[in-house]
Amino acid sequence: MSGATTDQTATAAKGEIDTVIAALRDALGAEAVRTGEAIGERALTDWTRMTPTRPAALILPASTEQVSRALAICDAARQPVVPQGGMTGLAGGAIARDIDVALSLERMSGVEEIDTAAATMTVLAGTPLEVAQQAAADAGFELALDLGARGSCQIGGNLATNAGGNRVIQSGTARDQTLGLEVVLADGTVLSSLNKMVKNNTGYDLKHLFIGSEGTLGVITRAVLRLSPPRRSRHTALVALDHYDAAVALLNTLRARFGNDVGAFEIMWPDFFDFGVSLTSHARSPFDAPHPMYALIEHAGLDPDDDGQAFSRVLTDALEAGALRDAVIAQSLSDARALWTIREATAEFPLRLEPVNFDVSLPIGEIGRFADACRARFKQCWPGQVSYYFGHIGDSNLHVTVDGRSVPGVSHEAIDRELYALLAPYGGSVSAEHGIGVLKRAFLPVSRTQAELQAMRAIKRALDPHGILNPGKLLPDM
Ligand code: FAD
Ligand code: LAC
Ligand code: ZN
Repeated sequence: MSGATTDQTATAAKGEIDTVIAALRDALGAEAVRTGEAIGERALTDWTRMTPTRPAALILPASTEQVSRALAICDAARQPVVPQGGMTGLAGGAIARDIDVALSLERMSGVEEIDTAAATMTVLAGTPLEVAQQAAADAGFELALDLGARGSCQIGGNLATNAGGNRVIQSGTARDQTLGLEVVLADGTVLSSLNKMVKNNTGYDLKHLFIGSEGTLGVITRAVLRLSPPRRSRHTALVALDHYDAAVALLNTLRARFGNDVGAFEIMWPDFFDFGVSLTSHARSPFDAPHPMYALIEHAGLDPDDDGQAFSRVLTDALEAGALRDAVIAQSLSDARALWTIREATAEFPLRLEPVNFDVSLPIGEIGRFADACRARFKQCWPGQVSYYFGHIGDSNLHVTVDGRSVPGVSHEAIDRELYALLAPYGGSVSAEHGIGVLKRAFLPVSRTQAELQAMRAIKRALDPHGILNPGKLLPDM
């Protein structure tokens, strides 16, 4: 696994691609290798809706062994390979160039085992998140990972991006759900670390290298995920607040009262809230009046008989004390779903606007001031700009989406530069959960030191010496 090549831009010589495709057909079978129009639209771009690009070929291996054979062929030919999951990524990481082979995991789908004693699930990487969640529920457990893209995103993509989502505040990120991984390295080596044990201090914990590596270090083929007891008592409320600091105070009150039973704390500024409301079936706010700030909160406990009285009482007390302006408590599952529809309006962004997405993290106490500074700066630069502010603030994660249509002629990069310049003094991170992909590559040094970047490059060289895996993603140019 050592080698001299140091760049990440392997390219098969022109003309060699046909030979590679022929070899892939021999190894995987003709039905598993598509070219030209046979490559469906889904493989051309992700949820960023960046310029759709048709890869030179799309391969659909059906087993780890086939992934291994395909990568060995590509590595020998210095043929770049782009792993593709559910194509819901928001950083452009799964978009292949026309000289790349895209490797889809979609045929490697299914839950292989649920170990009730260990409380683990062994799952193939191409399994949609929602399928894995349902299998866990059917077995009397809960897979805590959850995000709006659950119907389309895949476990492999979730792990490759270390996805966050709506329940990080209670259960952590995708990394925290992972006990073991099976990964195929660039040269075809199968690295099987399908550990089920909570404790295992036997040298480097290799799985962590691949979680969040966005397809640049290996192709994830299987995972062992932790399961939890189901949170049978779930109570949801939408609250209206005076300002950001009031939201932080409420979060602290809820944590002090309910500890780890705080299941979600999602914040929405009015711009985002109004957009979300406009997508609900009645297109009407659950409140009689507009408010400066909204939070969607959940109490998620283990006791099925818990009728939510304690949760209601805390909210009533907060209302009476003036800590809240108003509150709507869901009385049924369908009420709760309706409230979540407002927050999950992000799924509609690419269909209704030209989204320029940000996914930053900052110390929780600073997020309100940062959002204000950002809005002021954007207005100063582009008075007609329209942007939306929301996020998972319990996890220090702020999302900002600018509608590119409101700033005609302004490049996305120019908008990026303005926001990241504001972020740097806070020591914030340019990506809390969506990853770097192509969109944030140039800005990775805002959040990482040169020494960190050198260490990342050394790992990349060790595991993928010919630079065939997802070239041009994540790591900035030297
Ligand atoms: P893809 O988009 O296909 O790929 C993402 C990256 O992973 C690419 O770099 C790709 O090369 C790599 N990759 C994919 N599969 C593998 C594999 N098997 N092995 C190695 N590399 C692989 N993200 C959050 O973190 N939190 C959210 O709350 C959230 N909400 C979202 C809501 C909506 C409506 C949408 C559309 C997206 C949301 N996302 C969120 C972003 C996205 O869903 C996640 O990043 C998701 O984890 C990506 O999974 P995917 O299977 O679609 O991966
Ligand atoms: C969300 C995505 C945008 O939180 O991360 O909805
Ligand atoms: Zn998010």
